[in-house]
Amino acid sequence: MSFLIGETMRGGYGGADILNGCTIAVDKGEIAVIVGPNGAGKSTAMKAIFGMLPLREGRVTLAGQDITALSPQDRVKAGMGFVPQTSNVFVSMSVQENLEMGAYIRHDDFSDTMEQVFDLFPILKEKRRQPAGELSGGQRQQVAVGRALMTRPSLLMLDEPTAGVSPIVMDELFDRIIEVAATGIAILMVEQNARQALNIADRGYVLVQGSNRFTDTGEALLANPEVRATFLGG
Ligand SMILES: Nc1ncnc2c1ncn2[C@@H]1O[C@H](COP(=O)(O)OP(=O)(O)O)[C@@H](O)[C@H]1O
Ligand SMILES: [Mg+2]
Repeated sequence: MSFLIGETMRGGYGGADILNGCTIAVDKGEIAVIVGPNGAGKSTAMKAIFGMLPLREGRVTLAGQDITALSPQDRVKAGMGFVPQTSNVFVSMSVQENLEMGAYIRHDDFSDTMEQVFDLFPILKEKRRQPAGELSGGQRQQVAVGRALMTRPSLLMLDEPTAGVSPIVMDELFDRIIEVAATGIAILMVEQNARQALNIADRGYVLVQGSNRFTDTGEALLANPEVRATFLGG
């Protein structure tokens, strides 16, 4: 019984189903990675797990509790942090204001958490008074991840956190994500840099047309000739 399970999820945006019974799970301290072709339903699966898409079938459980009926806001209170694929920072607000916005559900003193985010991403401390829109792509992604960490989530969901960044910045971001997982947080991540992401994944999911095409450890998927030929470019 995993910490998070999106179980046999079926649903879409009103027309034909986009998710066709896929199951995604991750445990605390683990990194799970979803890969697959464009339009496979990876972002849709993340939205479904976060409660932004009603399920026609299936359910979502967190720490053994069925949370299928909860709103996204209540899922944040239950311990989920979500960094969506697009528009994941407030560009006109400063870095620090973005982090403060991330803490919106907290009524306690969150300055320690902000310091932890600054320890994880030192450049954000340096640039804390700058508008997020002035930062590089990689730095903006750090703001987005940091913002999600401000609620001290037990599950961190990242939709393509390395989109548009250089290989060096990608490696650095993956190192930080490994650090976050090592603190006991469950990480669920969609990645188009499939090979590199599976390399750090405890679990990997190859999603095709809203279904699990392959489900295995990251290592086993990287070694699977069919996965390599079809999804990893050989
Ligand atoms: N808001 C939306 N309304 C209608 N259809 C959508 C919406 N978002 C995505 N889709 C469709 O759902 C399918 C899966 O999209 P998505 O989950 O974004 O794929 P992926 O993240 O794997 O590239 C695509 O056919 C896409 O056109
Ligand atoms: Mg997507």
